[in-house]
Amino acid sequence: MNDLKGVILAGGLGKRLWPLTKITNKHLLPIYDKPMIYYPLSLLVEAGIKDILIVTGGNHAGEFLRLLGNGQAFGLKHINYTYQEGEGGIAEALGLARHFATGKKLAVVLGDNIFEHSVRPMIESFRRQRKGARVLLKKVNDAHRFGVADVRGKRILSIEEKPLKPKSNWAVTGIYLYDSAVFDIIQTLKPSSRGELEITDVNNAYARKGQLEFDTLDGWWTDSGTFDSLLKANQLVARQAKYEARSRKHEAGSMRQEAGSMRHEA
Ligand code: DAU
Repeated sequence: MNDLKGVILAGGLGKRLWPLTKITNKHLLPIYDKPMIYYPLSLLVEAGIKDILIVTGGNHAGEFLRLLGNGQAFGLKHINYTYQEGEGGIAEALGLARHFATGKKLAVVLGDNIFEHSVRPMIESFRRQRKGARVLLKKVNDAHRFGVADVRGKRILSIEEKPLKPKSNWAVTGIYLYDSAVFDIIQTLKPSSRGELEITDVNNAYARKGQLEFDTLDGWWTDSGTFDSLLKANQLVARQAKYEARSRKHEAGSMRQEAGSMRHEA
């Protein structure tokens, strides 16, 4: 279980959510009944990953420590933190994890991504994958908002970042599994036209080596970095929480009924 380390990328300035992010960090905003950062953290912990680094940045980064401390509420003994100056891109933020990775494989999650289901099966497959990287794809209707994969059979040929005319409707979700070669790849990157080191360029470097594998996602997934996706994330999480609460109530009711009829029979 200790073969993989986890990294949550929660840097950046969250400009698309301004003025909500003028006085706090995007990943501290609420998604229904919890702060956004709780979701990627729970995702990794549920998948069995206990050694976790949070890359923060921008305003009020110290509030993460106040909120999460050593991660006791998540069953953790310790959380590692590091700080990204400015907004140099997802790959730049990941580059800050080099000292933490110490040669181990990494499960990297974007701090504003929320998944309905566990990603444990994908992580299990990556444990068996000898080298390279692995991403999780989801069919969407608004592929132009995401990295979009050109898939042939079991291989990803390439990924295009936010294309005007997407070649497919396979969006690359914000969970990435990498071997330790990722840091050498990051060092070769040049900033894109939006001035960022792009995670899509990292993934394309693996694709060119024929080392980019993928799984497809069942269940819903959303980011929450725009007003519309933040609203959608809140609605999806609220719906699921209420559904789970109803199921628990229903289950408790049937258990009470069963116990009652057993007493009656006795
Ligand atoms: O949500 C999935 C999408 O995320 C992928 O399909 C895209 O390929 C990928 O580029 C990314 O797209 P976005 O443009 O939506 O990413 P955004 O700039 O919103 O950043 C997502 C998270 O990454 C953010 O919540 C925090 C972290 N981040 C981002 C930047 C730019 C950092 O930690 N540092 C950064 O400098």
